[in-house]
Amino acid sequence: SLAAPLAGSLAACGEAPEQTGRILRSAARLPEAYATPLPLPPVKRPSGDLIEIAQRPATVEILPGLKTEMMTYDGVFPGPTLETRRGQAVTVRHTNSLTLPTATHLHGGHTPADSDGWPTDLLLPPGFEQPRPAQPGADHSGHDGGHGGDGGHGGGHEAMHDPKAQVTTGRRDYRYPLEQPATTLWYHDHRMDFTAPQVWRGLAGFHIIRDDEEDALSLPRGEREIPLMIADRAFDEDGALRYPALDPELLGQPGVEDRYMAGVLGDVILVNGAPWPEAEVDAAQYRLRLLNASNARRYALRLRTADGKPVAFTQIGSDGGLLARPVEHDVVTMASGERFDVVVDFRSLAPGTTVELRNDLGTGRTAQVMRFRIARRATDDVRLADRLAKRLADVPEPEKPDGAVVRKWHFRREAVHGRMGWGINGKPFEPAVPQAKVPLDNTEIWEFFTDAHHPVHVHLSPFQVLRRGNRGPGPMDHGWKDTVDVRPYEAVRVRVRFEKYAGRFLIHCHNLEHEDMAMMAGFETV
Ligand code: C2O
Ligand code: CU
Repeated sequence: SLAAPLAGSLAACGEAPEQTGRILRSAARLPEAYATPLPLPPVKRPSGDLIEIAQRPATVEILPGLKTEMMTYDGVFPGPTLETRRGQAVTVRHTNSLTLPTATHLHGGHTPADSDGWPTDLLLPPGFEQPRPAQPGADHSGHDGGHGGDGGHGGGHEAMHDPKAQVTTGRRDYRYPLEQPATTLWYHDHRMDFTAPQVWRGLAGFHIIRDDEEDALSLPRGEREIPLMIADRAFDEDGALRYPALDPELLGQPGVEDRYMAGVLGDVILVNGAPWPEAEVDAAQYRLRLLNASNARRYALRLRTADGKPVAFTQIGSDGGLLARPVEHDVVTMASGERFDVVVDFRSLAPGTTVELRNDLGTGRTAQVMRFRIARRATDDVRLADRLAKRLADVPEPEKPDGAVVRKWHFRREAVHGRMGWGINGKPFEPAVPQAKVPLDNTEIWEFFTDAHHPVHVHLSPFQVLRRGNRGPGPMDHGWKDTVDVRPYEAVRVRVRFEKYAGRFLIHCHNLEHEDMAMMAGFETV
């Protein structure tokens, strides 16, 4: 019939993701693509139930021959990959030896509120002087507020006014029960108004949860399981990170210049902290844990051999764990914060073949991400890709619950006290004023609606996408999500149920500049 192809092409154009925004250009000499070997972050497992992480400044070589000063977890970027097991609670003890406050969030973690990295629950470095409140009416070169948030954040330093804030100095224990399925999480900074520059400067790492159910499946393992943190950056001539902050020390004015309202995009694509790296691989199947840790950049990832042959992605998991069944994709589109767990099959490729991971949303060098080089033939007895019908995990069908409360979250530009910023339901983020009280153990429908493209992230519990505009879930919406990319004027409905932990949690845009420009709201679970 005519209807089917038409619907297909409409869907296809409706799915086309966009990349808007101004690109911050590097002044440094950039390396050739695929000349740097892919690094893997060091792995850290708990000893007893404790993992210790030192937040400290470090000099890292990202561009060959140049030195980059970064804010790091344990002196490396990305931070160490934490590996834990479902149901085995861990304490992650962070010490802050940086020069600035931090708040560490485990993205995707089912975490009690006091360990969730609430933006004003700061960990201060020893000796850090809290900036004095700005005088009302003073010009906002003050220490407070977000970009576009002076006034927007309640005017001057009142932005930080949060009587419930739990501020600690030197050291802080984050307690993670990890009562959730095996999946790829990541931890990153979440400091009020400064998340974007502090993540840009290096505060991000993987946290992988494993469990027996996943261990029982036939999946690529060991060296054939690779976490890939994709993030763009820009560099000065001497290798220093560039960021369009109004004050390079971050202490004067937070946020970014007005012309970066859409978020900051760099011109260098890093994978695990290396520019356009290359990985030597066997002619075998690989499990790739894809994470978009960029501040604002979206990717539409595609694999193809040097002679143009496509290699498909078999998606096995999403943000919150394994899918019910594998799903094939030619392209994986990812917004900031999203994870896709995929298996790729290099078995039919001859040694010497190269496979590029490309970004359809980029142009020139930002269209390149990394490359795989098939180094050798190998045995491989993983039997996943051959059996697409195979069940991976118990995931309920995303059906609309009858009579559930529909809660609406409207993400849009807000003029606040005469400046442009971003808000939710007409309000910029105020840490002391939650926008909703949400009962625990109750299924709700949340509707996200935007007038621009925003990746919407919810803390505490994952959700399932029910609808996108007037259609069902899109191709990237399978499984348990905690971050969903919402396009302009397309209402996305999800089913969510918060369990166990009462307290205050966040919903926000995961474009980190938007988050710092106050596109965030607290909700309280009760
Ligand atoms: Cu990845 Cu609230 O953040
Ligand atoms: Cu946004």
